[in-house]
Amino acid sequence: MRDATPQTVYLKDYTPPDYLIDQVELVFELDEQRTLVRAGLDVRRNPDSRSASEALTLFGEELLLVGISLDGQALAAGDYTLSDEALTIHRVPGDRPFRIDIENIIDPQANTALEGLYLSSSMLCTQCEAQGFRKITWFLDRPDVMSRFTTKLIADKTQYPVLLSNGNKIGAGNLDGGRHWVAWQDPFAKPCYLFALVAGQLEYVADEFTTVSGRRIALEIFVEAHNVDKCGHAMQSLKNAMRWDEETYGLEYDLDLYMIVAVDHFNMGAMENKGLNVFNTKFVLARPDTATDSDYEHIEGVIGHEYFHNWSGNRVTCRDWFQLSLKEGFTVFRDQQFSGDRSSPAVKRIEDVNMLRTRQFAEDAGPLAHPIRPEAYIEINNFYTLTVYEKGAEVVRMLHTLLGAAGFRQGCDLYFKRHDGQAVTCEDFVKAMEDANGVELTQFRRWYSQAGTPVLEVEQAFDAGRLTLTVKQSCPPTPNQPEKLPLHVPIKLGFLAADGSPARFQYRGEFCEEATVSLTEAEQRFVFESLTEKPIVSLLRGFSAPVTLKIDRDPEELAFLLSYDSDTFNRWEAGQQLVSRIIFGLIADIQAGRTLTANPVLTEAFRAILADAGADLSYRALLLSLPDEGYLGGQMAVVDVEAIHQAREFVRLSLATALSAEFQRVYAEHHQDESGCFDASAVGRRRLKNACLSYLTALEKPDSYALAETQFRSARNMTDQIAALSAVVNSRNPTKADCLDSFYRQWQREALVVDKWFTLQATCHMPETFATVQSLMQHPAFDMKTPNRVRSLVGAFSQSNPLHFHARNGDGYRFLADRVIELNTLNPQIAARMVGGFAQWRRYDTDRQALMTRELRRIVETEHLSKDVYEIASKSLA
Ligand code: ARG
Ligand code: ZN
Repeated sequence: MRDATPQTVYLKDYTPPDYLIDQVELVFELDEQRTLVRAGLDVRRNPDSRSASEALTLFGEELLLVGISLDGQALAAGDYTLSDEALTIHRVPGDRPFRIDIENIIDPQANTALEGLYLSSSMLCTQCEAQGFRKITWFLDRPDVMSRFTTKLIADKTQYPVLLSNGNKIGAGNLDGGRHWVAWQDPFAKPCYLFALVAGQLEYVADEFTTVSGRRIALEIFVEAHNVDKCGHAMQSLKNAMRWDEETYGLEYDLDLYMIVAVDHFNMGAMENKGLNVFNTKFVLARPDTATDSDYEHIEGVIGHEYFHNWSGNRVTCRDWFQLSLKEGFTVFRDQQFSGDRSSPAVKRIEDVNMLRTRQFAEDAGPLAHPIRPEAYIEINNFYTLTVYEKGAEVVRMLHTLLGAAGFRQGCDLYFKRHDGQAVTCEDFVKAMEDANGVELTQFRRWYSQAGTPVLEVEQAFDAGRLTLTVKQSCPPTPNQPEKLPLHVPIKLGFLAADGSPARFQYRGEFCEEATVSLTEAEQRFVFESLTEKPIVSLLRGFSAPVTLKIDRDPEELAFLLSYDSDTFNRWEAGQQLVSRIIFGLIADIQAGRTLTANPVLTEAFRAILADAGADLSYRALLLSLPDEGYLGGQMAVVDVEAIHQAREFVRLSLATALSAEFQRVYAEHHQDESGCFDASAVGRRRLKNACLSYLTALEKPDSYALAETQFRSARNMTDQIAALSAVVNSRNPTKADCLDSFYRQWQREALVVDKWFTLQATCHMPETFATVQSLMQHPAFDMKTPNRVRSLVGAFSQSNPLHFHARNGDGYRFLADRVIELNTLNPQIAARMVGGFAQWRRYDTDRQALMTRELRRIVETEHLSKDVYEIASKSLA
C-alpha cells in the first residue's frame, strides 16, 4: 500500500491565488549532482484573493533548503514551516509588495522521473509542465500566476559551453575556475510551467524567418554533435509552421529568437517553453536513411504543434489544469489543419480519426473515461490523455464546422485579442466564439463536461421524393456520470444517385448537394425533399462529430459507397465497414467451428481499388488497409483476441491469394528508388507498394520471401527498409534472424532506429514473440531509464500486440505488471502510462479478467506507490 491515500483535486474548489509574483530572478550554479538555485521573487497580495490569511505558501518538492529571506531579512526556523510538498511563511506583508529570496540545492543526476531539472545523456535540461517547476525551487506553481523571468546560468565552460533559457540573451561573461555565465530575459509574463533551461555540449543549426510584418527572427536547433546532419527537416517544418500560422490565423511570432533543443530522455513528445522548445529527439531528427515518411510527417506535425502553442497556450494560457484542453485540444486541431494542408487533407483526416476511434473511444468507454475538461484528478500528469488532446481537438473542429471557417476565424481573433496575456478557461473560448458570431452555444458546452462516446442510430424512410432520417442519440454511462443529456451534434451529409453521382436535394427550402444539420434532441427527424429516386445516404461526412454511427446497410451498399462516395472520408469508411462486417462474420464462423470462406464482394472491391489509377496514392494505400485488431476488438461485447487475429489474417490471405497478380503488378509499377524524395507522389508510391508487399507476405511463398528480402537488402531509405524488415519478421521467412541482425549492426549507433528494431519485434504476430520480448529485456541496448526505449519494447508489446499481450496463460500480464512496478520508482509518469495496458480488462472473458485484475491488485499493493500509478491502477479496478 501507499504511505497515505493521495488527495484528489477538484475543479469546483478553484480559488484565485492569494499572492502574485510579478518578477522572478533566477540564478543557477549548474552541476550534475549539486545544482545551487537562487530565486528572487517580487511578491504582492492578489487584490482578488478571497482569503484573510497572512501566510504565504509556496509549492516545492525534493528540494534542500539553504536559506530564505523576506525583504533582505533572513528568516528563522520559527518563521516558516517546511513539508514534503510546501514551504509556508507564517506572516508576510499584505499591504505592500515584498521580496522573497530563496536558496536551495537540487540533484539533477538523481532525477530519473525527468520532471524539473534533470540530466539527459550529458546535458542538463528541464521539463516543468505540469508541475515540475516546484522541483526546481519553491514557487506559486500554478498557471494563473504569471511572472517576468530573468535567468542567469553559471557553469563549467568545457562541460556546458551552451547555456540557454527563455527569451533574449542579455549578457554573458567568463568567471574564475573555468566557469562562465549567460543571462536571459523573457519580456513576456508567463506561468512557471513554461520556464526552461538547457546546458550542455551542443551544436546548432541556424536559419532565419522574416515575419509578415518584416521582423527577422533567428531560428536555432540545438542537438548533440552527431545529430547535426538530421535537423534540416525540422528547420523547414518550423518555417512552414510560422508562415502557415500567419496566413491561416493571422498570428505572428513575438520574440527575436526561436530555439529548439532535442534531448534523448523525454517523457512526452515535446514542450512549448517560451522561445525555447525542448523536444524528444524522435520529433526532430530525420534523414532519409534513418526516418520513415511517417516520421517526417510526425516531425512536421509536432514542430507545428509546439510552435502554434506560442499563441494557443503561451500568449493565452490556462487558468488551472482542468482547462488543459483549452490549449491542447485547440493546438491539436491547429496542427491537424496544418499537416492536412501540407500533405493530403483526406489522408490526414483518416489517420486522425482512425487513431481517435481505436484509442480515444476505448479510453472513453473504460474506467478512466473523463470529460475533455475533467472535474477531478489525483495526478495531473495522468490527464495528458487522448481525450483531452484528440477528443478536445474534435470539439474545436465541431465549432469550426458549425461556425464555418470565417466565423471560426473571427472567434479566434476575438479570443486572442480579448485574452492576450491572460490565464483563462474553456468557457472563455466558447464565449469568444459566441460573441464573435452572434450565436448561442449553450447546449454545445455539454461536450466539455460530458464524458463518453455518443451513439447515433439512424433510420431512413423514403416516400414521394422525400427522404426522412430519424436520428436517435444516446451516450453510455461513464464513471460518475450515469445519465447523459443530449449533445449538439453537427452531421454533415450528402446523397448518392443510383449511378454514383451526387443527388441534389432540398433542405429547409434550399437546394444543395451537401448539408450540415444540427442534431440537438434525443430523437429528431430531418426531412430532405425534391429527390427523384431513393438515394444512398452518406452520413457524418469528414467524421463531422466524434460519435459512433449505427445505420443498417448491406455489403452491396457499402461496396457502392466505397466506389462512388465523393467524400473521401466516407469512401474509406465504407470500405472499413465492409471489411469489418466480413471479419465479424468470420469470427462467428470461428467461434461456431465452421469452415471459413472468402467473400467475393470484398475481392471485387479490392480488385477495383488496385486497378484504379487515382492520383492520391497514399489515399489508395489507406483504402487497402484492414481495420486493426484493436479497433475490431473495440466493437465486440467480449473481445476474442485469437478469433480476431485469425479472421483478419484469413481476409489478408484470401485477398492476397485471389489478387496476387494485381498486388505484384502494382508493387512492380511503384517500386523505384526515390530515396530522399518526400513529395506526395514519392511518399504515396512507397505507401502503396509497401501495402502490396504486406499482402504478398501473407502467401508464405519463396517468391514473396525473396521480394521482401531483396527490398530489405537494397533499400536506401528507412520507409522501404523497415517495411521490408517487417514483412520478413511477420512471416516464416528463413532469412529472418539474419536480417534482424544485420539491421541492428547497421543502426546500433542511431538510438531512434534501434527503437524501431525493438518495436518491430515487440509487435510481431509470430508465435515466438513473447520469448523474444523477454530476451530483448536483457539486450545491452535496453534501458529502463530511457522512455523512448521503454515505449519501444514494453509499450509496443502491451499496447500494440493484442494477440500476444493477452495470451491466455497470463504471461503478458505478469510481464507488464513487473515492468510497472520497476518503473514506479524510476519514472512514475512512464509507469502510469504502462498501466494503461490493463484499463480495458472488463472487455475480456472472465479468465482474462481474473488474470488482469490480479496484476492490477498486485500493482496497487506495491510499497511506495507513486500517485501517478496509484490513480490509474485504482481507478482501473473501481
Ligand atoms: N504541452 C506539451 C505538449 O504540447 C506536453 C507536455 C506534457 N508534459 C507532461 N509531463 N505531462 O503537448
Ligand atoms: Zn500541446
